Amino acid sequence: MKVNGVAYRPIWPEADGAGVGIIDQTKLPHRFETVRLTSLADAAHAIRAMLVRGAPLIGATAAYGMWLALRADASDAALAEAAETLVATRPTAVNLRWAVDDLRATVRPFPEGERAAAAFRRAGEICEADVATNAAIGRHGLEVFRRIHAEKRDGGPLRVLTHCNAGWLATVDWGTALAPVYMAHDAGIPVEVWVDETRPRNQGAALTAWELGQHGVPNRVVVDNAGGLLMAHGQVDVCITGTDRTAANGDVCNKIGTYLKALAARDNGVPFYVALPGPTIDWNLSDGGQIPIEERAAREVSHVQGMADDGTVAEVRVTPPDAEVANYGFDVTPARLVTGLITERGVCTASTAGLAGLYPDMAGGSAA
Ligand code: MRU
Repeated sequence: MKVNGVAYRPIWPEADGAGVGIIDQTKLPHRFETVRLTSLADAAHAIRAMLVRGAPLIGATAAYGMWLALRADASDAALAEAAETLVATRPTAVNLRWAVDDLRATVRPFPEGERAAAAFRRAGEICEADVATNAAIGRHGLEVFRRIHAEKRDGGPLRVLTHCNAGWLATVDWGTALAPVYMAHDAGIPVEVWVDETRPRNQGAALTAWELGQHGVPNRVVVDNAGGLLMAHGQVDVCITGTDRTAANGDVCNKIGTYLKALAARDNGVPFYVALPGPTIDWNLSDGGQIPIEERAAREVSHVQGMADDGTVAEVRVTPPDAEVANYGFDVTPARLVTGLITERGVCTASTAGLAGLYPDMAGGSAA
């Protein structure tokens, strides 16, 4: 996708082989800055501190992180240590473990001298596969959006509500939940997006609004609690979100607040879709209740980052200094509240049978 007219991905191998470039997402939307990762520690920090975030991009960064680690030391011990370090960075996104396990299995048969090159090749393949996967999600989602728009009685624009950021910044390109939005917009379907701000880190206000704006998709940021009102007033035609981990029964774990949107959607008869690539499915989990929920730093709740009118970017406190804070990063939306799962292989019901029907080669075993 484009930034000020220039094609960008949120991660890329640098042409001189010196490292991996990323867009520093902690600086958006106020500043567009890129960072070079040259070591395992850099990659782990980028994931942990959320310079990169979003399940597929976390997986891609981990894959390149394995390359950076093996470049320094390709022994079996270093391979195991790199895998452990990367998997510990963020607990929720299953793509992270999937990518690390894939890289381990890919390089292990090679002699030490060839492992780094094999890792680099495989990381590149994982990135290209993610782009193709998201484009396929976009095409399947486009048909869903086309149908919903055609069925609208008022003939007005398709009004989509999304939570967090599941756009191109969260993947290697296109995004998952936003891929159908971009494709519908490009196909001439009038689309307008309600963007949940997504406290505590405001990925909606900072990232989704920014990337939709860069592509020219009309969007409006709303506070997280506005969705119920908008749906009750008939202002939302469809909700679509991403997911960090999907259980085999179709329960979806996503950014905190997703569950409340699904409840409001059900109460108001608004279709609620979740877009996901295959590596987001955790076939080892029979339901979402077993998904560990990431608890993050209190400072993300007690403070917000923003730009003052004089252009300075600062963090300011919004709670009393001694306020107790809890910061749960994700919640689980039960499959019964999900109208459909939009995957690279097509659209299915959020159910064991639905997922098994699309992924007969994966269901009943490990995805790794
Ligand atoms: O904490 P984040 O910013 O990594 O959370 C991201 C999300 O919740 C996304 O919706 C999810 O990873 C899907 S991204 C295609």
